[in-house]
Amino acid sequence: MGAEQVRDGFVALYGTEPEGVWSAPGRVNLIGEHTDYNDGFVMPFALPHTAVAAVSRRDDGVLRLHSADIEDGVAELRLDDLVPETDRGWTAYPAGVVWALREAGHAVTGADIHLTSTVPSGAGLSSSAALEVVVALALNDLYELGLQRWQLARLCQRAENVYVGAPTGIMDQTASACCEEGHALFLDTRDLSQKQIPFDLASEGMRLLVVDTQVKHSHSEGEYGKRRAGCERGAALLGVDALRDIAYGDLDAALARLGDDEEAVRLVRHVVTEDERVEKAVALLESGDTRAIGPVLVAGHASLRDDFRISCPELDLVVDTAMSAGALGSRMTGGGFGGSAIVLADVADVDSITKAVEEAFAAAGFTAPRVFEAVPAPGARRLV
Ligand code: GLA
Repeated sequence: MGAEQVRDGFVALYGTEPEGVWSAPGRVNLIGEHTDYNDGFVMPFALPHTAVAAVSRRDDGVLRLHSADIEDGVAELRLDDLVPETDRGWTAYPAGVVWALREAGHAVTGADIHLTSTVPSGAGLSSSAALEVVVALALNDLYELGLQRWQLARLCQRAENVYVGAPTGIMDQTASACCEEGHALFLDTRDLSQKQIPFDLASEGMRLLVVDTQVKHSHSEGEYGKRRAGCERGAALLGVDALRDIAYGDLDAALARLGDDEEAVRLVRHVVTEDERVEKAVALLESGDTRAIGPVLVAGHASLRDDFRISCPELDLVVDTAMSAGALGSRMTGGGFGGSAIVLADVADVDSITKAVEEAFAAAGFTAPRVFEAVPAPGARRLV
């Protein structure tokens, strides 16, 4: 749905023109999984799928929320009544952002919001971050808060961690807020320093496919939090602030210190090798050797499957089938336990790989996957 339609929807709903219309994208992560809450490295890029919101200010302490995608009426909330972890629905994301802004001392006095999103939910493509960031950017503009993109990402993460109650890292919100068209974002999640890495597969005769397995996940459920707690325990056992502080060259010594603590060994090994894979992928992309990231993606998948244990049969089937059908690389992307995988392939092989994956899913009795091509799109922005 375009900006015009969202504006028209706002007018039909609230009876006045909105003050503006904003959009924020979902993301796909090229490499760097479950490293962001370990102060490590990630490299996502923005999808063309976006959340689009028409927004106006209010001065009476009321927040009105409406989604064109959900058969619900307008939710009307009082800002003073917003309480963390009391809302299990979609409204928790935009309301959480308003809560986080106010908690940080910003004078937001209310809003009317009408939104819609094309980011598939539960697909590991950051539909929630898109909802958060579009609202944060709109309110930042309208209330002239002067916050920078990375600060908006932090506030959105706080909304998600505290208000929604999902213990996620900073990658998704930063990706949605800071990505640039035609680039992947190399992000150091410790200090949020960033580098835009040109990522133009088409000019090199390649494509990146996203395969949504249609297996839904939710990060407020236990497994994500368990991995995060396990990583924090590993860091404590090794006497470092975060697993980021274990250099790749010191990994064997660190694992030896963990002895027969198999759980800690697996988690630490994944995070430290994954940070190394991100740095390797960045170096390859910067040297123009894009094709060579294929094996790095595959190694990342094996680590998530075997050490971090967050894959599932559907994700493994995508990766195995795509690689057998001639893909250059493939791995699960996002939080895991379902969601999406990515496939890097030569243009000439895209159709046969897609067919092979669809047939493998049918043969296994899995729900048909949704396959689309992803090209790095712009980050969050004002449309109108
Ligand atoms: C989810 C979280 C992110 C990140 C990824 C795994 O998308 O929201 O913060 O931890 O999982 O890399």
